[in-house]
Amino acid sequence: MRIPMIAGNWKMNLTIGAGLELVKSIHYSHRHPGEVDVVVAPPFTAIHSIAEAVKDSYISVAAQNIHWETSGAFTGEISPVFAKDAGAEYVIIGHSERRQYFAETNETVNKKTKAAFAHGLTPIVCVGETLAEREAGRVEEVINTQVTQGLTGLSATNFEKLIIAYEPVWAIGTGKTATGQQAEDVHTFIRELLVKLAGPEIAQKIRILYGGSVNAKNAKELLSFPNIDGALVGGASLKAPDFVEIIKGATA
Ligand code: 13P
Repeated sequence: MRIPMIAGNWKMNLTIGAGLELVKSIHYSHRHPGEVDVVVAPPFTAIHSIAEAVKDSYISVAAQNIHWETSGAFTGEISPVFAKDAGAEYVIIGHSERRQYFAETNETVNKKTKAAFAHGLTPIVCVGETLAEREAGRVEEVINTQVTQGLTGLSATNFEKLIIAYEPVWAIGTGKTATGQQAEDVHTFIRELLVKLAGPEIAQKIRILYGGSVNAKNAKELLSFPNIDGALVGGASLKAPDFVEIIKGATA
């Protein structure tokens, strides 16, 4: 039995003050989450304040990225140790925006994933194909490469805690959601890959979230599929009523 997870990726949005307002209204309007893990991923500058504010609530905090090194001459980078120190419990790794604009590769995803585990952060590793790749019939090939190379060399204990997010690039910020069945098909494929990498028992424990234009209206249907274990939400996570509605969709 996998506990669903609803994670809000704030991307490069919200000051500390605006973030505090948002978590306060999420918390007040949704006091009894039931069996669902709720995570918010603020910008680095707000992690500490948000983590302090949600300390006694059911909400946890994620970083949106980390560097793989612990410390050193890497100007502008954030070590996993610092993210953890600031109060993050999770970290989003390999988001398509990082792959697209910041030259993230499956190799750096792998290094960051290992670094996250080494420093007590739970990684949410993102994979997903572009529209051109989907139209060329290359979805499985692309996902296979991202999953296999991104997760190579993880231990069984790591795999047990791992979270994967399937985010088709064409569905991010476009208002164009994958249908529940389209997402379920890829999630099933990812789980088959995980069986090969981690064995059948552990593969059943790994949560696979869907991301890409998830909103208050479509979340419940998406979450009703057996291999869709939660959502990684962008735009709709910035509005408390919408995010709360998505959380409710996961608990229903
Ligand atoms: P949107 O929900 O805005 O499409 O963004 C999805 C996403 O990238 C979450 O990481």
